[in-house]
Amino acid sequence: MSIRRAVALGSGSYLPERILTNAELSRTVDTTDEWIQTRTGIRQRHIAADGEFTSDLATAAARQALEMAGLDIGALDLIVVATATPDQTFPSTATRVQHNLGMTQGFAFDVQAVCSGFVYALSVAAQYIETGKITNALVIGAETFSRILDWTDRTTCVLFGDGAGAVVLQGRDGEGTKDDRGILSTELRSDGAHNALLYVDGGPSSTGTAGLLRMRGKEVFRHAVSNLAAIGDEALKSAGATSDDVDWVVPHQANHRIIEATARKVGIPMEQVILTVSEHGNTSAASIPLALDQGVRDGRITPGNLLLLEAMGGGFTWGAAALRW
Ligand code: ACO
Repeated sequence: MSIRRAVALGSGSYLPERILTNAELSRTVDTTDEWIQTRTGIRQRHIAADGEFTSDLATAAARQALEMAGLDIGALDLIVVATATPDQTFPSTATRVQHNLGMTQGFAFDVQAVCSGFVYALSVAAQYIETGKITNALVIGAETFSRILDWTDRTTCVLFGDGAGAVVLQGRDGEGTKDDRGILSTELRSDGAHNALLYVDGGPSSTGTAGLLRMRGKEVFRHAVSNLAAIGDEALKSAGATSDDVDWVVPHQANHRIIEATARKVGIPMEQVILTVSEHGNTSAASIPLALDQGVRDGRITPGNLLLLEAMGGGFTWGAAALRW
């Protein structure tokens, strides 16, 4: 049976120039390189420059993805930006990216699901493509978490970084089997009962300020592994695949220990997991497309590979996608 698939044509990414190492951080907060590496796997993170906004990071990643896809900006129907750190409360960061790219047709909007944002955005874009409503979409994850960190709180400020990643999707006909190229399944979940474990203590409607990130890391950790493993299994099942079919896991990069424990539960060896957490830290919605682009550009991910993307973040929100590159 012929069905419409959202096929990935290209990826791109961008990291701000400035690198902040653990050693540098240990001079401003009571921490050590050893503690950060042992507990999280993080060695360094990138920090956006003054005047460099989420939309700038997103635009740079988008340009790379469009170039790899060989797609003209005039052919694009939709831009979805996943971000929890927009340039402004409104308008959306996506409309700024649209303008930066010189795109005057179609439509653009943001999706907010914190660290799960890219999987949510991918799912939204895929629905538009699979129904035949549109043909070409640009899906971006972009964040400047450095702007919402309490740089005096060692339990959170060592964990996050800035960056952006992007993927171009195009509607193409498939056979309706797990061998098709494109997004084979997406599974999304949320549970608002856990707001107090991971949140920002401000917002336009509550305090009138942007607020700063607060997290009870241990509790988040406990939920993360079981939620991620379960949703990964569900996405594979919906795609008609099993863990044996997976070539690469491209996980949200929050913590090396979470990634390892989840991979073990899903039954996929660490050699098949794309890891960037040591170099980037947790870049929230940007982390999956950043890792994906790294895997594509260094030649590990090749056309026809089955990828399992999975993420969990504030809300809680969590989700997974099976994508044949
Ligand atoms: N340097 C040194 N010591 C520290 C630091 C630090 N940077 N941070 C905390 N500590 C101390 C704590 O104060 C505590 O000390 P105590 O025992 O004297 O009280 C000790 O280290 C242990 O702290 P824990 O919080 O128990 O450490 P844990 O092993 O749980 O690691 C971490 C903390 C890394 C935050 C982990 O819990 C984690 O990764 N959680 C999940 C994060 C996550 O996945 N978030 C979801 C996505 S984020 C998003 O959606 C925006």
